[in-house]
Amino acid sequence: MDVFEAIRTTRAMRRLDPTVPVTDEQLWTILGAAHCAPSGGNAQWLRWVVVTDAERRARLGEIYRACWAPVRRRYDDRVPTDPEAAEKQARMLRSADHLAEHMGEAPVLIVPVTTVDEPSSVFPAVQNLMLAARALGLGTTLTTTHRHAADEVREVLGLPPDAITWALIPVGVPTGRWGEARRRPLESVVYWDTWEATR
Ligand SMILES: Cc1cc2nc3c(=O)[nH]c(=O)nc-3n(C[C@H](O)[C@H](O)[C@H](O)COP(=O)(O)O)c2cc1C
Repeated sequence: MDVFEAIRTTRAMRRLDPTVPVTDEQLWTILGAAHCAPSGGNAQWLRWVVVTDAERRARLGEIYRACWAPVRRRYDDRVPTDPEAAEKQARMLRSADHLAEHMGEAPVLIVPVTTVDEPSSVFPAVQNLMLAARALGLGTTLTTTHRHAADEVREVLGLPPDAITWALIPVGVPTGRWGEARRRPLESVVYWDTWEATR
């Protein structure tokens, strides 16, 4: 797949088929792509915990579901007044609720971990991973809500106390269709030379 098509169509794919496995070959391919990403000073702090064990996935799924509930309530408290924006938010929340109910059933959960607080050396690799997954027809969602229960996640994965679990990324074959990510018009977010100078 052309890299631009992969970029355009890499979206939060929250509905995954729990019955279709992800192969080790696919996992090594996407982790290899992730591992190509840059890090500050090429320090390569990042480690990946690939969770395939059903019991551990289920426990992470429970943690995620509990963390999602208060986040969800906050969204309910601020429904946009514009009907179109409200409908968009409602659609996103239906999909996010589905993920919260089924996170633990995703065929694989991937957790990027460092022991240094360097997010800018984490997320280039996470994006590489998600793009490579897309190119193989695998859906992913970047989620961070589990971080409200970081200690519990560390316990499930046997991580040291200083380990930072940056994301919880479900991976699997999506049940829905791939579509292009909806974003604001590009011209509205690009300024030339000085702030708010558009072309
Ligand atoms: C830093 C970050 C954290 C996110 N955390 C969550 C999360 O905890 N749960 C979730 O369902 N989606 C999460 N998302 C996914 C976003 O909601 C999603 O990327 C956004 O709504 C755009 O969706 P789209 O790419 O499908 O258009 C997160 C995305 C980012 C970049």
